[in-house]
Amino acid sequence: MKLDLNTQGNRVSSNVKAFSSPDAKPAALADTRPSAGVIWLTGLSGAGKSTLCSLASARLRTRGYRTFIIDGDTLRTGLNSDLGFSAPDRKESVRRAAYTAALLADAGLLVLVALIAPFAADRARAREIIGPHYHEVFVNAGIEVCRRRDPKGLYRRALNGELPEFTGVSSPYEAPAAPELMLDSCNQPAAECVTLLIDYIARRFVPG
Ligand SMILES: Nc1ncnc2c1ncn2[C@@H]1O[C@H](COP(=O)(O)OP(=O)(O)OP(=O)(O)O)[C@@H](O)[C@H]1O
Ligand SMILES: [Mg+2]
Repeated sequence: MKLDLNTQGNRVSSNVKAFSSPDAKPAALADTRPSAGVIWLTGLSGAGKSTLCSLASARLRTRGYRTFIIDGDTLRTGLNSDLGFSAPDRKESVRRAAYTAALLADAGLLVLVALIAPFAADRARAREIIGPHYHEVFVNAGIEVCRRRDPKGLYRRALNGELPEFTGVSSPYEAPAAPELMLDSCNQPAAECVTLLIDYIARRFVPG
C-alpha cells in the first residue's frame, strides 16, 4: 500500500481523503474574546474606584491577565499636573486618560481606569477614543455614604469651602445612564463588588 505524508506529518494511505465537516472548523471553536481593553470605573470620590481597581487587578493577575491601573490621583502627579478641577480641565484630564488607556490597550494590556470623570459628555468622548473595548463601570455610592467614608478627608475640606469645584459638593456628578456594569458599593461589600467586576471581565476578556 502506498503511504504519503499528510499535512500533519502522518503517514496515511494515498486513497484516504479526510472528510472535512463544515461544523468542525477550528474558527468556530476559537475564542474570539480580546485580552486587551479598557475598564473605566467612574463614581464619586470615595465611591471605591481605586480600592476596587487595586483588588481586581491583583486577582486578575493571578489568573494571567496583564492588567495596568490608571488612577486619576496618579495622573495628577505627572501627566495631568497642569490641570485643575474646572469643567474644561476635567474634560482635558479625561481626554488624556482615554488616549493613554487606548495606547496601553493597543500594547496588549487590560487597563483599569479609576477616574471620577463626572461629566457624561467627557465619558462619551472617552468611549469614542477607546472604541469597542471600552467598558464603563459605575461605582455607585451615594453622596451621603461617600461623605461619611471620606477616606482622604476631602469632603471635610470641601464642605469647609477649602476645595472649590469638588464633585458632589460644589461641582456636579452626572451618573451614567447606561453603564455596562453598575456596582452598588454602598450595599455590597468591597469583596462582593470585586467578584462581580472580575466575573464581568472574565466573561469578556481572556488572559493575555
Ligand atoms: N463596597 C466597597 N467598595 C469599595 N470601597 C469600599 C466599599 N465599602 C467601603 N469601602 C471603602 O471606601 C473607601 C473608598 O475609597 P477609594 O479611595 O477607593 O475611593 P475612590 O472612588 O478611588 O475616590 P477618589 O475619586 O477620591 O480617588 C475605602 O476606604 C474603602 O475601603
Ligand atoms: Mg481613587
